[in-house]
Amino acid sequence: MSKSITTPDRNMAMELVRVTEAAAISAARYMGTGDKEIGDQAAVDAMRAVLETVDIEGTVIIGEGEKDEAPMLYNGELVGNGNGPKMDIAVDPVEGTRLLANGTPNSIAVIAASASGSMWVPEDSLYMNKIVVEERAKNAIDINDTPTNNLKRIAKALDRKVNQLTVFVLDKPRHKQLISAIRKAGARITLHTDGDVMGALMAAIPGTGVDVLMGTGGTPEGVIAAAAVKALRGGMQGKRDPQIDYEIEELTKKGVDLTQVLYIDDLIKAEDAFFAATGITEGSFLKGIHFDQIKGVTTHSIVIRALSGSIRFIEGSHSLQRNLAFGEAGLKQAVKMASM
Ligand code: FBP
Repeated sequence: MSKSITTPDRNMAMELVRVTEAAAISAARYMGTGDKEIGDQAAVDAMRAVLETVDIEGTVIIGEGEKDEAPMLYNGELVGNGNGPKMDIAVDPVEGTRLLANGTPNSIAVIAASASGSMWVPEDSLYMNKIVVEERAKNAIDINDTPTNNLKRIAKALDRKVNQLTVFVLDKPRHKQLISAIRKAGARITLHTDGDVMGALMAAIPGTGVDVLMGTGGTPEGVIAAAAVKALRGGMQGKRDPQIDYEIEELTKKGVDLTQVLYIDDLIKAEDAFFAATGITEGSFLKGIHFDQIKGVTTHSIVIRALSGSIRFIEGSHSLQRNLAFGEAGLKQAVKMASM
């Protein structure tokens, strides 16, 4: 890594939350439509419009894909108004597109930022095996060890028994063995069809009802989660775990070392990182978007900064007629979507 890493001098997560609020409001209109694309597109439009007003010179490292497949927020796209620090940006305008399409819990709009050159670039890696815990258990995890041994050490670090731990696992056929190993070890499991950024967030924050995240999900989601986990001083390890033929071929062709363990400081190299997320559908951790004719739109967000260790839960009440917080462009988007 030859690029120098500079630290911004302010908590830009407070600005970034405007971006996730606008994305979540815009996407929420499409809850339950059964269409995964339409809500995502609305969130992308809103996110990009508000990002234009943020004082950064940002480069999208984790976006909606490569330029030819994503017209906006593509990897490499420059975002921000250019009047601020150079930042790497990771976005997931709708994390859990299926959750939104089905109107099921825990879809969120999410953004992470860290100094330019500090964010790990997944390149051809689409899937990553991950383990995430809170700070007190960060030295207890070893992604190369068995689930049973990890759970025993995590329980010890948290001064609990294994049967008092709850593990967040994506409900996927690839996790059959993992699930059976966790059950055998005696820990409780919470299965989710989607949304392992939320799982990582919950695992890294004490007292959320989730103590550990285990299993394979998206690699981009892994980098986004790493920004939050870093900010929370939690523990995380990842390892590329290709699932698709094309992905396996590409990684093999390039001779990528699949045994490499990616530690939190590999995923986010800067000491400072910013993370903001806003609930879209109702969630166990973040409430979803509520539309009300009198109260306007209510948003629930979490905002985290690594350097200060500050975690803020923000409940926003937005009058769509006169809320200037989104800036004109974002407001236009949100108003358009929310008044449909
Ligand atoms: P999308 O919002 O892109 O649909 O991702 C949802 C998600 O469940 C992530 O949380 C997770 O990391 C990934 O998909 C898992 O991918 P897959 O569903 O292909 O196993």
